[in-house]
Amino acid sequence: MNPPGTHGSNPIGLLGLGIYLPERVMTNDEWAQYVDTSDEWIVARTGIRTRRIVGEEESTADLALAAAQAALADGAFEPADIDEIVLATDTPEVFIPDTAAYVQARLGVGHIPCYDLAGSGCAGFVLALDIARSRALADGRRVLVIGVELLTRLMDWEDRNTCVLFGDAAGAAVVGAGPGAVEIVAATAGTDGSKSDILGVEAGGTRLPITVERVQQGLHKHVVMQGRKVFREAVGRMSAASHEVLAKAGVSIDDVALVVPHQANLRILDAVTKRLGVIDERVFVNVQEYGNTGSASIPVALWEAREQGRIKPGDLVLLTAFGAGFHWAAVLLRF
Ligand code: ACO
Repeated sequence: MNPPGTHGSNPIGLLGLGIYLPERVMTNDEWAQYVDTSDEWIVARTGIRTRRIVGEEESTADLALAAAQAALADGAFEPADIDEIVLATDTPEVFIPDTAAYVQARLGVGHIPCYDLAGSGCAGFVLALDIARSRALADGRRVLVIGVELLTRLMDWEDRNTCVLFGDAAGAAVVGAGPGAVEIVAATAGTDGSKSDILGVEAGGTRLPITVERVQQGLHKHVVMQGRKVFREAVGRMSAASHEVLAKAGVSIDDVALVVPHQANLRILDAVTKRLGVIDERVFVNVQEYGNTGSASIPVALWEAREQGRIKPGDLVLLTAFGAGFHWAAVLLRF
C-alpha cells in the first residue's frame, strides 16, 4: 500500500487482468431442445451463437477466484499485495454473506476489507473500477476488482424470453498505482432508480420472500425484462455515458482506438456503434461466442481484445456498460 494520497508520478489504473470461462459450450440448437426457439431466431435477434455454462461442481466463488488468480499472475502480484476486494455480481455464492468474503479467504490475502456490489447488473464491473480508482487515489490501495456471473444457474430454463440471452464467466483486474498501469483517465457512472422494475428478479428478497407457492410458480428464478425498453435504455445510456467520459477527459470519439461495450446483444452493440459514429472495426464484439455474461462481460471482452492484439501501447480504450438498476458506467483507459 502507498501512503495515503501519494502515488507519485505513477498513473492509477489496471495493473493486471484475468478471466475465467467455464469449459462447457452450449449452442443455440441445444437451447431449442429445452424451449420453443431456434438458432435462426436467436442469431437474428441477438447475434448470440454459443455461451459457456458453468460446471455442476462450480459456484460463483470458484469462477471469481480463478479470474482473480489470473489477474494477479498477469500483474506478477502475490495475494499479499492486495489491500481490498470489490466484487460485482447479481448471482452470489449465497445471499449472506457476500461472495467477496469467500474469495478473500480462499485467495489468502489476509484480513483485508472486501465487499460485493450486489445487484449492480451488467454495469457492476465498470462501476467497481471507478470505486477502486478512488480507493487507490485517496488511500494508496491496490484493489482487486472482480466481475462474475453465473446467470445460467439462477435463471428460468423454461422462459425463452430470457434464458437464451445469458452465459457464465468471470473477469478480474488489479487496480492501483504503478509505472506500467493502464491508466484510468476518466470515469463516470449514473443510476435511474425509477426504472428498477423493468429488469430484475421479483422474488427472493423482503418484498416477496421465498415461499413454496412462489417457488412452484418459478418466481424466484424468473427474470422480469421488458426487452424493448431495456434495448432503448441500453443504447441511450451507453452512448451518453461514453460522451460524458470523453468530455471529462477532454478528448473526442475520434481519439479512441477501441470501444469495448457491455456485450448484451449484437443489435444493441450495432446501435451504440452508430450513435457513437465509429466504424465497426473500432468496436470489440464477442457476444456471439459468450452471450450476455453480465458484470463479467467487459473484463472478458477487454482481455480478449488485448490478447488478440487489438490494443497498442498509447491507445485510448473506452469501456461503457449498462444494466439492471438501471445503472450505467463508462471508463476511459490509456494503454
Ligand atoms: N425464441 C423464439 N421466439 C422468442 C424467443 C426465443 N428465444 N424469445 C421471445 N420470443 C418471441 C416472443 O415471445 C414474441 O412472440 P409474440 O410476438 O408471439 O409475443 C416474439 O418473439 C417477438 O418478441 P419481440 O419482443 O418483438 O422481440 P424483439 O425484437 O424485441 O427481441 C429481445 C427480443 C432480443 C429480448 C430484445 O428486445 C432485446 O435484445 N432486448 C434487450 C434485452 C437484453 O439485452 N437484456 C439483457 C439484460 S440487460 C443488458 O444487459 C443491457
